[in-house]
Amino acid sequence: MFFVPMRHKDAGLSHNPLKAIVSPRPIGWIASKGADGSFNLAPYSFFNAISEDPAMVMFSVQSDSEAHIKDSLRNVEETGEFVVNIVSQGQFEAMNISSGTYAYGENEFSLAGLDMVPSQTVAVPRAGGVPAALECTHFQTISLPRNASGGGYILVIGTVTGIYVDDGVVEDGMIKYDKFIPISRLGYRDYGRSTDIFQATRPGQN
Ligand SMILES: Cc1cc2nc3c(=O)[nH]c(=O)nc-3n(C[C@H](O)[C@H](O)[C@H](O)COP(=O)(O)O)c2cc1C
Repeated sequence: MFFVPMRHKDAGLSHNPLKAIVSPRPIGWIASKGADGSFNLAPYSFFNAISEDPAMVMFSVQSDSEAHIKDSLRNVEETGEFVVNIVSQGQFEAMNISSGTYAYGENEFSLAGLDMVPSQTVAVPRAGGVPAALECTHFQTISLPRNASGGGYILVIGTVTGIYVDDGVVEDGMIKYDKFIPISRLGYRDYGRSTDIFQATRPGQN
């Protein structure tokens, strides 16, 4: 089959498959702080690391209209910092709770029963219990094109200024997936667990 984006029904597909096609996607569980001192936590699966040195990440925020702005984006624009929390099995329920639509200023750390653990390089805390977290400063915001209904996505790029790793997921100087089991977002209502890991070398590598 073939179809142009958003015309999946013409091809007999009941649901837009884009996120199932581009899967798995890591979940960036974004902590942020507003100018009023409020804290926010929300998951974003249009998220990835985009550069290793300097270390940089991005997440992409959906908006229904030019006037609509999600709390995470508002906070990053206001205070210039955020923390990416990494979600493993133990954080799944809390991550899901934090994805609800709550009034601006409502603290999803509290709603999800999570501690706020101070970061070292930014004033935004990480979530207690996560296997890893990336402390970030805001680098750039890029508004992607709007669709015919006025909706669209806004890309937030950040520079990683500090990296927290739970010592319990490290062995022989490397992060062990079986101690950490990253959760990823697939399409539809599906999620994945990285449990079936294999190694390979590139041509010319020892
Ligand atoms: C696993 C998961 C991934 C999500 N990914 C995104 C995303 O990439 N972009 C987005 O705008 N919303 C995404 N959402 C929805 C937001 O988490 C939700 O709109 C949340 O209320 C935004 O919170 P905020 O306004 O506090 O930033 C996702 C939700 C879940 C559960």
